[in-house]
Amino acid sequence: MNKYDTIIIGAGAAGLMCAIEAGQRGRSVLVIEKSNKPGKKILISGGGRCNFTNLYTEPSSYLSNNSHFCKSALSRYTQWDFISLVDKHALGWTEKTLGQLFCDQKSGAIVEMLLTECQLANVEIKLNCDVEAITHDEQYSVRTNLADYSSNNVVIATGGPSIPKMGATDFAVRIAKQFGLKTHNFVAALVPFTFPEDQLENLFRELSGTAVDVVLSVGNTSFKEAILFTHRGLSGPAALQISSYWTLGDEISVNLLPNDNALDWLNAQRDESPNAELKTLLSRVIAKRLASKLCELFIINKPMKQYTPGELEAVAEVLSNWKLKPHGTEGMRTAEVALGGLDCDELSSKTMECKSVKGLYFIGESIDVTGHLGGFNFQWAWASGWCAGQFV
Ligand code: FDA
Repeated sequence: MNKYDTIIIGAGAAGLMCAIEAGQRGRSVLVIEKSNKPGKKILISGGGRCNFTNLYTEPSSYLSNNSHFCKSALSRYTQWDFISLVDKHALGWTEKTLGQLFCDQKSGAIVEMLLTECQLANVEIKLNCDVEAITHDEQYSVRTNLADYSSNNVVIATGGPSIPKMGATDFAVRIAKQFGLKTHNFVAALVPFTFPEDQLENLFRELSGTAVDVVLSVGNTSFKEAILFTHRGLSGPAALQISSYWTLGDEISVNLLPNDNALDWLNAQRDESPNAELKTLLSRVIAKRLASKLCELFIINKPMKQYTPGELEAVAEVLSNWKLKPHGTEGMRTAEVALGGLDCDELSSKTMECKSVKGLYFIGESIDVTGHLGGFNFQWAWASGWCAGQFV
């Protein structure tokens, strides 16, 4: 009885969604999961409350070698579809910010919801089951530490390698290569920046715990959200977002006055409060510790009336275009996702089946589609899993 219509490798967000859909269509489905629990990344997501989707999901919120690829799946299984599923299971949810929906119950409630649906769809899940080899002739044979299984279709839903201590690996890329498919190496994304020791010492450690709303940019890409100084470097949503667009050697630009033109703001302060010191005025709009640090390192602090127009322009440049040069990121150890994976052009965007290998499917983070921070990655997992589930 080890023969199934479909074997799904990976009981994460995408794999479970695919299993539910295929099971509901009456297919016999086995989900193989190498860890001792399904949905481990769901459990730790969103600070324990799973940011399960985003109200403003759209293709432009994803990075990929093929920016069109995600459009079809995202339009066929939308954020509203997943919200309906959550509502059907009477789970509460709250929009925290920027369309990000979090579960009112713990993240475990989302895993329970998916497992309940799997059970209703007669999906079989094998835990602690490690795939040793996949071969394909007439059908697929999957050798594992527990037993050998065979199927007509195999779905690779093994995600990306971020957080290796949870057992995450680049399995998807290895399997893709085995089948001669084009891949992109996984690269840590949505990940904090690190800086050289002298900058950590003089800047970041002293400001550790300070959060500021900024516009953070690299090249032509900008995010208006908070940054957080930490003893290891720079984190916070804006830093995580921009990390997906950053490559080694790039400078990042911080605009500390995201709602004002810095020079206009400085001129207005000089007119309104000519005797006040810049540091005092800055402390009213950015964290006091940061204002002091900027004045210690980059700006001569004095009463506003003493600044020449040229000096104010130089201060405006520091406030609106403060350049920082990370020397790396924290890497896969803390990355929320990974860029890269199977090249999208290897797949049908309708079915998620490989164009050149019949019956082999890839879904979720294993494909080179990576969302912004804010529920977009789960929405991609649900959508791509749902699509494959209609065909396997
Ligand atoms: P996922 O990683 O979920 O599942 C893959 C499964 O395959 C795992 O269960 C793994 O054990 C299993 N597996 C791997 N190799 C295997 C093998 N060889 N054999 C058998 N099984 C194997 N996103 C979001 O939208 N909102 C959020 O709030 C968060 N928060 C968040 C926090 C943290 C700390 C992290 C690390 C990540 C997030 N994410 C997120 C990202 C999100 O978790 C991620 O994009 C999805 O889980 C990807 O879903 P997949 O199903 O593709 O992979």
